[in-house]
Amino acid sequence: KPSICILGIETSCDETAVAVVEDGKTILSNIVATQMDVHKRFGGVVPEVASRAHVEQMTIVIEEALQQANRTIEQVDAIAVTKGPGLVGALLIGVAAAKALSFAHGIPLIGVHHIAGHIYANRLVEELEFPCLALVVSGGHTEIILMKEHGSYETLGETRDDAAGEAYDKVARALELPYPGGPHIDKLAQQGKATIPFPRSWLEPDSYDFSFSGLKSAVLNHLHNTRQRGEQIIKEEVAASFQESVVDVLVTKTMKAAQQYGVKQILLAGGVAANQGLRSQLSTTCQQQGYPLIIPPMSLCTDNAAMIAAAGYIEWEKGTRDQMGLNAYPGLDL
Ligand code: KG4
Ligand code: ZN
Repeated sequence: KPSICILGIETSCDETAVAVVEDGKTILSNIVATQMDVHKRFGGVVPEVASRAHVEQMTIVIEEALQQANRTIEQVDAIAVTKGPGLVGALLIGVAAAKALSFAHGIPLIGVHHIAGHIYANRLVEELEFPCLALVVSGGHTEIILMKEHGSYETLGETRDDAAGEAYDKVARALELPYPGGPHIDKLAQQGKATIPFPRSWLEPDSYDFSFSGLKSAVLNHLHNTRQRGEQIIKEEVAASFQESVVDVLVTKTMKAAQQYGVKQILLAGGVAANQGLRSQLSTTCQQQGYPLIIPPMSLCTDNAAMIAAAGYIEWEKGTRDQMGLNAYPGLDL
């Protein structure tokens, strides 16, 4: 069977990304133009600035991705693009580019859910086995998703307030660390001891939902009180204690769901999958309990277009095709 070549486009937040992937598995190219420096001085992503940067980068990144893959646009079988969720203005740039390519060259168009993309980053590493369980942790998402077959997603739990990455970024900001703060907290945490008893939010006993805003408040209170007492804030200890609390809840709930649904595999996805504390705790626990675990390499954990092409391939196989009416859907459900 001839291989299917998919061009993926991702612009849901602050990365302009285009990739060429074969059969949803083999990366031919994976270009990410990050806007990190543009947003850094604002301490977060400014939506309007993101949209403009996507416009500036889009065609350049498309050309680079095709060139690196050694493919022409005529050799592309389908265009897969993130249709949501994300920043609406940012998403629209990717969707418009995808529609333009599709229309101009007569190539089928496939809209992809951003989280499906994060999950399918795992299939770029290893073949999925069902049922499997995905822990999706990013700046905008914290979800436990059960998959019984390709392209089928059952959300068992999600955050009721802040996403895990969002909590990291907010705590980092309180510790006066640069944006995005997740990696900085992670680094500090490895240098300190988790001595501060921050709360763990387990919610109802049978719930797979998460809540991180209480933990975030507890950290802010701790910092405030320490300053009021005129004592020194030990950033490494705060970071280690905060991280232990987040990782404990994430890993415990994931393992409980894995057991309840008898899954064959556990997948980690999203930008927070880069976290050393989470990676090592989840690896150790999965090994102890006998669950095979897939963790994509860093470059596939953070936003990229190879994962969108990989998820797009599954939709292609299912026969999903979108028309020129495809839009951007900022609050799209999985
Ligand atoms: O998936 P992603 O690139 O973008 C979204 O779709 O949100 O995730 C970005 C998030 C940010 O909140 C960032 O602080 C967090 O992932 N992050 C980390 C680490 N690396 C990135 N959080 C904790 N530890 C890390 N090492
Ligand atoms: Zn993402």
